Amino acid sequence: MSGFTFSSGGATCDGVDAAAVAAAEGTPLYVYSAALVVDRYRALDAALGACPHRVHYALKANSTLGLVRLLRSAGSAVDANSGGEIAVALRAGVDPVDVVFTGVGKTAAELEDAVRIGVGVINAESAGELARIDRIATARGVRARVALRINPGIEADSHPGIVTGGARHKFGVPIEDAGAVCRDAAGWSGLDLVGVHAHVGSQLTNLDEVARTASTIARFAQELRAAGLALEHVDLGGGLGISYDGTPALPVEEYARVLVEAVAPTGLTLLVEPGRWIVGPAGVLIATVVDVKPQRGSRYFVVLDAGMSELLRPALYGARHRLERLTPRSGPEVTCDVVGPICETTDVIRLGQSMPLPEVGDLLLVRDAGAYGAAMASNYNRRALPAEALVEGGGWRLIRRRQTVDDLLACES
Ligand SMILES: Cc1ncc(COP(=O)(O)O)c(C=O)c1O
Repeated sequence: MSGFTFSSGGATCDGVDAAAVAAAEGTPLYVYSAALVVDRYRALDAALGACPHRVHYALKANSTLGLVRLLRSAGSAVDANSGGEIAVALRAGVDPVDVVFTGVGKTAAELEDAVRIGVGVINAESAGELARIDRIATARGVRARVALRINPGIEADSHPGIVTGGARHKFGVPIEDAGAVCRDAAGWSGLDLVGVHAHVGSQLTNLDEVARTASTIARFAQELRAAGLALEHVDLGGGLGISYDGTPALPVEEYARVLVEAVAPTGLTLLVEPGRWIVGPAGVLIATVVDVKPQRGSRYFVVLDAGMSELLRPALYGARHRLERLTPRSGPEVTCDVVGPICETTDVIRLGQSMPLPEVGDLLLVRDAGAYGAAMASNYNRRALPAEALVEGGGWRLIRRRQTVDDLLACES
């Protein structure tokens, strides 16, 4: 099986010793399994096999160029959420027609560029945005391919920060208004309304909400077709969750089954925009212990050279990633608050971790960090962005070198 294998005090990635990669490249370091990224993409693609479909990998989860190239060569299309992500996709060799352009606040310049290069479809967020795209396309004498993002009013059961389909959320057009908006836009000379789109949240683990969203949007698409609109696809966004704690996750086959059951009867092509599910388990963050200090009671702070600037999820969402030790230590297990080096109390990696007390210089590995890890890293505290290594073919290569001080200051005068 591809990916990471853990033993007490060690880990390998597709047979390559993770500690050896960290020793050679330094920490903090992201390490990805190329084989697992591709295997997961293929598993989802195969699970959807019964229905005409296209997988558009959501670049926001991780848009490091080497990973985007890898997924493109495996056959994936992409979902881009900004002009920057579109630029990365093009650099990675993605054909513009394989780009869906989503995003709640696309600028005039981003829309101009998207129409100019001819992206596959722009998922418009509002009637106003449709009108702006229409003006741009009409001025250029072309028709832009658009879909409307529908807000189905379905509040999925996930962290409140990543739930996007409820009536009070900023995303899309309320489903009650969407029919009129679509019928209007279908008559405009600069637009081809080719699809409908919804994305109700990320880290979804409840099949009922996925099924309800899929059937609601499929039914809506059918109503538009009955009204004479020539739709081509239904885009059901991303959102499939992964297991961060080791308990069984929602099987990809069941997720695919409910999407296909809803969309196949429409005869339309099904588009999906998975991010986390494809790359999350395929990446880890390796960090070095830089300090160990006792708290009151028999509890310790274990301070790493990685924190919220490298992996924001614990600070932002209270996410709990599993930790593994890459340096064997015996001794009784003690309770450790594993924290980062940043001047913020929210800067934690994992609180209350039970393990033999590490020593300064030990390596720790944070599991399931491939999605929304490197992509959300920042230069806060003037920290250099970490290096990223891709394990492939029995070896590894850096797909992103560690930033230098010159990189940090390159845009300043
Ligand atoms: C429109 C859209 N599509 C796809 C995704 C990817 O979601 P996930 O990584 O949960 O699959 C997101 C994430 O927020 C999104 O906003």
